[in-house]
Parts: sequence; C-alpha cells; structure tokens
Amino acid sequence: MRILVTGGTGYIGSHTVVELMEQGYEVVIADNLSNSHAEVVDRIAEICGRRPEFCKIDLAARDETRDFFAAQQKLDGIIHFAAFKAVGESMLEPLRYYRNNLDSLLNVLEGMKEHHIPNLVFSSSCTVYGQPDELPVRETSPVKEAWSPYGNTKQMSEQILRFTVEAHGLKTIALRYFNPIGAHASALIGELPLGVPNNLVPFITQTAIGLRPVLNVFGNDYDTPDGTAIRDYIHVVDLAKAHVVAVDRMISGASASPFEIFNLGTGNGFSVLEVIHSFEKVSGEKLNYRIVDRRPGDVEKVWADTSYANRELGWKAGKSLDEMMLSAWNWEKALANKK
Ligand code: NAD
Ligand code: WQD
Repeated sequence: MRILVTGGTGYIGSHTVVELMEQGYEVVIADNLSNSHAEVVDRIAEICGRRPEFCKIDLAARDETRDFFAAQQKLDGIIHFAAFKAVGESMLEPLRYYRNNLDSLLNVLEGMKEHHIPNLVFSSSCTVYGQPDELPVRETSPVKEAWSPYGNTKQMSEQILRFTVEAHGLKTIALRYFNPIGAHASALIGELPLGVPNNLVPFITQTAIGLRPVLNVFGNDYDTPDGTAIRDYIHVVDLAKAHVVAVDRMISGASASPFEIFNLGTGNGFSVLEVIHSFEKVSGEKLNYRIVDRRPGDVEKVWADTSYANRELGWKAGKSLDEMMLSAWNWEKALANKK
C-alpha cells in the first residue's frame, strides 16, 4: 500500500511517516520545505532502515501539483498535513494563510478526483471549537466562529471536504488534534520551530537549554484550579499512530460514513503550571518563568472527549505528561548537541 504524506517532513508529518513505514506502508512525502528541512528524510531513514520517497513541491501551486500527481504510481491514500499553522502570523497575513491552506487542499482534492485516489486523512484542529460551552468537548459540539484566519482555514477545509467527498465518492477522516507535544524516542526527529516558538513546550525546553531567558506564563487569573489555562496535550507519536489507524480504517472499508471526524487528545487537561512542574520533575532543571498578562485570543480551558475515537478507531493515547515532557527535553538536548 502506497500513501502520499503531504507536509511529511514537518513535525507531525515526520512522526507519521515513521509509523506508516513501520507498519509496512510505502510512503511518498510531498513538502515544499517552507517550515521543515530535507534532512528530516535522512533521519526517518535512520529510524526505519529504509527511505521514504521525497518530492519537493509547492502543493498550493496548481500546475506543479497536477504534474506531480500525473507522475505518481498508484496511491492508496493521502494524509494531508501541509499547511501554515501559526495563529498569530495568520492574523497579520490572512491572505497568505487562506491561499496556502485552501489552495493546497483544493489541489490535493483535484488530484484525488482525477487519479481515483479514494482515501484522505485531513489535519484539523481543536481550534475549530473555540472556547466550548461544555467540557470535555465532543465531535458533535458546535464549531464556533473562528478567532483567527488559521482556525478559519481549518473550518473551511472541513466544509470543503464534507461537500467534495459526497460529490466525488471519496472517503475522508478529519482528525481534530488537541495540543501535540514531545518527540520520537530516538530523538532523531521532533519539532523544529523557526525563530521564537509560539507554543508552550518548545518555549519551555528552549528556555531550559538557555536559548531564551525566561518563559512568560500568559495569565494566572483564569477560572481554573491554579489560575493558568488548561489544554489537552498529546504525545506526537500517539497522534501519529492514530493516522495509521485512520488510513487502515478507510482502506479496509471500516468507515462508518464517507466523512468522519475524530478528536485526538488524551482526554486529560493540564494547566500551564502543571506542564512546567512536570518538565522540572523529569528534567531536573529549574525553569525560569514569570506570570504576565493573558495572551489575546487564548481560550481558558479545553480538553477532549476521546471516547468516540477510542471506541471507533480502537486507538487510545498512551503517554503520560511526564513522558511527553521528557521526550521533548531529550529532543531539545539532541538539537543542542548537533550545534
Ligand atoms: P509543520 O509546519 O511542522 O508541518 C507542515 C509541513 O507542511 C511543513 O513541513 C511545511 O514545509 C509543509 N508545507 C506547508 N505549506 C506547504 C505547501 N504549500 N506545499 C507543500 N508543503 C507545505 O506543522 P505540524 O505541526 O506538523 O502540523 C501539521 C498539520 O497539523 C498542519 O495542517 C497543522 O495546521 C495541523 N495542526 C497542527 C497542530 C500543532 O499544534 N502542531 C495542531 C492542530 C493541527
Ligand atoms: C498552550 C498554553 C498559552 C506559550 C495552539 C493553536 C491551536 C493548535 C495548537 C494548531 C496556552 C500558554 C504558551 C508561552 C504560555 N494549533 N503559553 N507561554 O494556544 O493551546 O494552541 O497550538 O491547530 O490552533 O492556537 O497552544 O502551545 O501556544 O499554548 O503561557 O510562551 O500555554 O497561553 O494556555 P494553544 P500553545
């Protein structure tokens, strides 16, 4: 079975390529390296003992993508990770985000239609829920008005998929990720934020290793037990494994309907301070942090109801917060050793 992984040299994509290859899939990666590095392919080969195919291609470019699909051998499915993902940047450059995230999806869907590629897994996000009225948040919970162009591209993408799947007889699974963190146990692949990280965990590890002077904790006056905001952090390898399950599900004809949506989280919420304390425990490092004002646009608390994914996919995230933080720290140390 041959799977195309768009964005496959990126953070979640690279971990998913490893899991697919370990399950015996042939993988072709399509990535324009706008937020990743070609060496990731070497790291994947080192982990798996064989190399995925790699094509440097801008999937938002229609002609280029057409040519790419025309040159492909038979594909059994696609996992579409390729997108821009920085919420703050999307507020400053909305058109760039709409162009890249929507054009790439449309081009991939056109390729699927023209070349009869039946199955698609799409990277969606818990951001589509905004601040849910009820917790834990279920797949049937309402999608709230988007707070950012980035979040809006995920909502629009889900709608595009809903209609396209029906018209063209494609099967799709949209996976709504909560907060992916951590890295592969080998410490050969992990998250590589360009510039100053926006996300909590890379900011923690970069502060601890001395790349940043201090971590700002955005707000301690939320309505949560310790006043800091709560998220559902999930280990990236647990997340990656869910993609393999989703692909297997579609290929084996086990989908309950042509368009399915699943939450991918652990079902547990942790506060910013709990994450910091877990990091300090597993690393033995004292983290320099200070409380500052809330970050505009942040939700107070969100965690997933994962029962539908657990039951239907037969998948469950297994890693604890401590394991996630230790793997993130090992990755940061491995990066420092390379420099
Ligand atoms: P990432 O930036 O590490 O990976 C995305 C990859 O897509 C990068 O390698 C980038 O070079 C590539 N890419 C972007 N635009 C492209 C284009 N036009 N053509 C070809 N390649 C292109 O991001 P990630 O964290 O691995 O996220 C993967 C997906 O998951 C994205 O769709 C993201 O929106 C979604 N997601 C991420 C998170 C998160 O917190 N990391 C949470 C929810 C959803
Ligand atoms: C987590 C918590 C911050 C940095 C984002 C996207 C979302 C999804 C996942 C793609 C929050 C706090 C953070 C820092 C802090 N991505 N924090 N100091 O905001 O939940 O979600 O990534 O779909 O769409 O919005 O993740 O890691 O940025 O923040 O105190 O320096 O850590 O306020 O409470 P977030 P995050």
